[in-house]
Amino acid sequence: MSTPAEQIKDRLSIVDVVSAYLKIEKAGINYKARCPFHNEKTASFFVSPTRGSFHCFGCNKGGDIFSFIEEIEGINFSEALKILAERAGVNLHEYGKVFDPKIILYKIMEDTTEFFEQNLVKHKDAVKYLQDRGLANETIKDFRIGFADDAWQNVLNYLRAKKYKDEDIERVGLIIKSEKNTTEKYYDRFRGRIMFPISDAQGRPVAFSGRVFGGDEKNAKYVNSPETALYDKSGILYGYDKAKREIMKQGFCVVVEGQMDLIMSHQAGVRNSVAVSGTALTDKHIDLLKRFTETIVLSFDADEAGFAASQRAVKTALLAGMDVKAITIPEGKDPADLVKKDPKVWVDLVNDGKHIVDFYLGVLSSKITDPRILIKEISKKVLPVVADIKNKIDQAHFIKKIAGIVGVGEESIREEIGRMYSKTVPQGDILPQKLPQEDRIRHRIAGFMFLLKEKKEEGDSINLFKDRIKEICDKDFENFVKELSNLSREEAIFEAEVLSSGNKNKLIATLSELLDSLEKNILDNKLKFLLIELKRFEEKKDEVGARKTLTECQNVTNRINQLKNKK
Ligand code: CTP
Ligand code: MN
Repeated sequence: MSTPAEQIKDRLSIVDVVSAYLKIEKAGINYKARCPFHNEKTASFFVSPTRGSFHCFGCNKGGDIFSFIEEIEGINFSEALKILAERAGVNLHEYGKVFDPKIILYKIMEDTTEFFEQNLVKHKDAVKYLQDRGLANETIKDFRIGFADDAWQNVLNYLRAKKYKDEDIERVGLIIKSEKNTTEKYYDRFRGRIMFPISDAQGRPVAFSGRVFGGDEKNAKYVNSPETALYDKSGILYGYDKAKREIMKQGFCVVVEGQMDLIMSHQAGVRNSVAVSGTALTDKHIDLLKRFTETIVLSFDADEAGFAASQRAVKTALLAGMDVKAITIPEGKDPADLVKKDPKVWVDLVNDGKHIVDFYLGVLSSKITDPRILIKEISKKVLPVVADIKNKIDQAHFIKKIAGIVGVGEESIREEIGRMYSKTVPQGDILPQKLPQEDRIRHRIAGFMFLLKEKKEEGDSINLFKDRIKEICDKDFENFVKELSNLSREEAIFEAEVLSSGNKNKLIATLSELLDSLEKNILDNKLKFLLIELKRFEEKKDEVGARKTLTECQNVTNRINQLKNKK
C-alpha cells in the first residue's frame, strides 16, 4: 500500500495547492507567479505540474506540496501533512497514528468562537461600540470578534448541549470551577465582554481575550484565557496567522501592543503587523517572526516610559540577530487611535522606521544640549544596544557614528563595548549550518551541466561554467558531482529540461543564476564563521586580528551585495 504522503500527492496537484495562496498563470507547460517567499516585481516562481514541484529562481526555495505548505504556513512537515491530508480526504489515523486528544479541544474553541460571533450580532450596542472605535463591519467579521453575555452559564450550557464534557471545557479555560459548595460546579470565565479570539499560526482559535463592555467598568479591562494545552502565551502572537504571508512579502514585521491596535493596523492595510497582547516579546515570538523576516519594527510611546518599556523587546530581538527599527507614536496615543483618525498617518509612520540606534541617538540629541551629559547618556543608554547588535558590520557602522558624535576614537568605544559584551553575550555560539536549500541548488547545477553536455554544441560555455564551479567550490566538476548524495542523473536532467523548457539561452542564463546563488550561500556561511572569529579576537583583545577579520568580512559582504544586486 502506498504511504499517506504518496496518496496525498496523488490526490492533490501542486497547482491546486499553490493557487490556493497565489495568483498563478500559465507559462508553457508550467505555471508562474510572483514568489511569496521574497519580494519581487517579476515572476520567478515556477510551478511544474508534471514534476509536482515548485521552484523560485529568485530566492531558490523549492520543493513539493509539503515543503510549500511548510514554508508558507511556517510549520513543520508533520503539521503540513495533517493539513494536506485533511484537504485530500486521506485519513491519517488508518495508518496507526495515535489519536490526537487535542482535536476535541480545538473543536470546543471553534464552536465557542462561532457562538460568540453569533451573539455579537444580537448586541447592537456592542457592535455600535466597535463601529465607533473605527472598525469596519468586514474587519469585525474577519477577526471573528464576538460577544459574551453578562451571565454565569451561557457558554457552559451551550457547550454541554453540544455534548462536550465539562472537563474538556475546563481544559481550554472557558469555565472556572466554583469555590463555593453549590450544586453547579462551574461558571463561565468570560462575562459581559467583547471577545477577541486568539488564533495559532494556522488560524485555529486557541484562546480568547475579552474586553469589558457594559457590566462593571471597574473590572479588569481585559480578561484572557489561561495557558492551556492549546495556548502557550509566550509562543503566540495575536494576528500572526493573518500577518505571516504579508510579513514574508514585505520583508519586515510591525509589532504593536494590543488587540485593537493590531486589528486597526490591519484595517489600515498594514497587514504585516502582529501584537504581543500585553506580554513581553519572548524568544519564542522572535522565532516565529524569524521564519519570515529579519527585520522588526517596534512602536514606542514618545514619553520616557515608552523608551524604558521597549528596552527588553529591543534586546531580545537584537540578540536574536534581528534588525530592529523604531517608530514613535505621539504621546498618549496608540496605533488604534491613529488609524481611527487617519489610516495614512499610521501607514506612513510604519514605513518611516529608523534603525533603533539612530532612533535612540536622535531622541537623546534632540533633548540634551550639554555635550558632557549627552556623552554620558549615550554611553549609558545607546552603547549597550550597540553591544547587542550581532552583525559586526552594522556594529562597526554605529561605533564609527557614535565616535563621531561623541568626538572620541573608535577604539575607545570599541573597548567600552567589549566590556559590556562579555557580560551580555552568552558563551558558546551555534555554528552555522549548511542549508538543505544549498543541497538542492547543487543538485540542480549538476542537472543543468549534464543537460548542457548532452546538447554538445556548448563546448565553450561548459568550460567557463566548470571554471566558475572550481572558483566557487575549489573543486573540479567531477568531484563536485561525486560529493552529491542521492543524485539521479536522469532526474536531474529531466528537472533541468523542465526548468529551462529546453531553451539553450534559458539554460545558460539559469545556470549562471544558480551558480550565483550557490556562491552567495557559501559566502553567507563564510561570513558567519568570520563573525564568530571576529568575536574571539575581540574577546582576546587581539586588535590586529580583529581588524584583519573585519576587512575580510567587509570584502565578503561586498561580494554578497554584488551578487544580490545582479538580479
Ligand atoms: N491587557 C491585558 N490585560 C489587561 C490590560 C491589557 O491583557 N488588564 C493587554 C491586552 O492585550 C491589551 C494590551 O494589553 O490589548 C494593551 O493594553 P491597553 O493599552 O490598556 O489596551 P488597549 O489595547 O488600548 O485597549 P482599548 O483600546 O480597547 O482600551
Ligand atoms: Mn487603546
